[in-house]
Amino acid sequence: MATSRFAEVQQGPPIEVFAINKAFADCTAEKKVNISVGAYRTDEGKPWVLPVVRKVEAELASDMSLNHEYLPILGMEAFTTAAAKMLLGASHPAITEGRVTSVQSLSGTGGLRVAADFLCRVLKYNTAYYSSPTWGNHRLIFSDAGFTELRQYRYWDAATRGLNFDGMIEDLTNAPENSVIIFHACAHNPTGVDPTQDQWKKIADLVEEKKLFPLFDSAYQGFASGDLDNDAWAVRYFAERGFEMMGTQSFSKNFGLYNERIGNLMIVVKDPACITPMRSQLTLLVRGSYSNPPCHGARVVSRVLNDPALFEEWKDCIRTMSGRIIEMRKGLRERLEKLGTPGKWDHITAQIGMFSFTGLSAEQAKFLCDKYHVFILSNGRINMCGITTGNIDHVAEAINDAVCNVSKA
Ligand code: LMR
Repeated sequence: MATSRFAEVQQGPPIEVFAINKAFADCTAEKKVNISVGAYRTDEGKPWVLPVVRKVEAELASDMSLNHEYLPILGMEAFTTAAAKMLLGASHPAITEGRVTSVQSLSGTGGLRVAADFLCRVLKYNTAYYSSPTWGNHRLIFSDAGFTELRQYRYWDAATRGLNFDGMIEDLTNAPENSVIIFHACAHNPTGVDPTQDQWKKIADLVEEKKLFPLFDSAYQGFASGDLDNDAWAVRYFAERGFEMMGTQSFSKNFGLYNERIGNLMIVVKDPACITPMRSQLTLLVRGSYSNPPCHGARVVSRVLNDPALFEEWKDCIRTMSGRIIEMRKGLRERLEKLGTPGKWDHITAQIGMFSFTGLSAEQAKFLCDKYHVFILSNGRINMCGITTGNIDHVAEAINDAVCNVSKA
């Protein structure tokens, strides 16, 4: 018999964040804490279905006028229009001038992939820059889409546990014309460190001067500050400056709709006449990839965004989530300082959003897992939402022990 073609297949590396989730589920220790994956938990350590989402889902379930017919290839218009307004602001000139178009996507990842496909195959871009460090999927998405030059710009300064602004500016200054620059709209993953408004203005000057293409990954609007407008400031500022640009939105975190894969790719153009041919090319890309998007998440989000009363209820939910994160940041910092854990811990409260980049090494991360069953990413990122009043002391003690007794290298 001929040998199997499948025998040639090499083992690929695991996807760390999902591998850790599985290891946590399999861990039989009584006291265990999962602060790896970016998913919100209540103070009881449970996933949270937002009450406004439950309410809308109950309405949808009993609405006999709904069916399971296909959505259009580029998605549900009531959803995509509302999503773009949420990101840019309803009265943003790009919207009122008809210079914005959107594609419903399979969450933020799917939006990035359609964006990358379009930029590479239709516009022939081949160079993309992502921050160092960044979310573990950016590189893979862009290389799978066909980008041949994947480069990093400096972002994190380990010494200050803040932004390496000079390094970032230097790297972007050296980027060749027509490079796609992936920015995090807010609550940078994994560092929780964002540029200030003044720094964003300087970055925008550079993007203009060097003819770079800005793409904002917006996965946490509302999560960072509890305020949708604040968290969209950078995206709106770039759009006001008149750039052609893209923004990818995820509704996983701010709606808690992780497995519904609901997102949006928003594109701002200079001339509205470009939109029709662009949509025809986007249609071909989506058709050849997954044909058309799923409906449930789009129905939930569009109902909430398009109904003033539901919208207010949702904003309360976002404030609840971001407020709990801020409390846990304060609590963790206080505890580490009280324990006298070597080093400075003010970065925990200075960083924003879901994640804190602790500065812990891969060895220290492993120690946390082995000795305390506290699961974090090997780059030292912790999900602040996984910390609760019930486990915060355990987490602080574990970090203290790791910092005191495990060397960094
Ligand atoms: C994370 O960063 O933990 C989440 O966005 C989950 C993922 O897909 O990586």
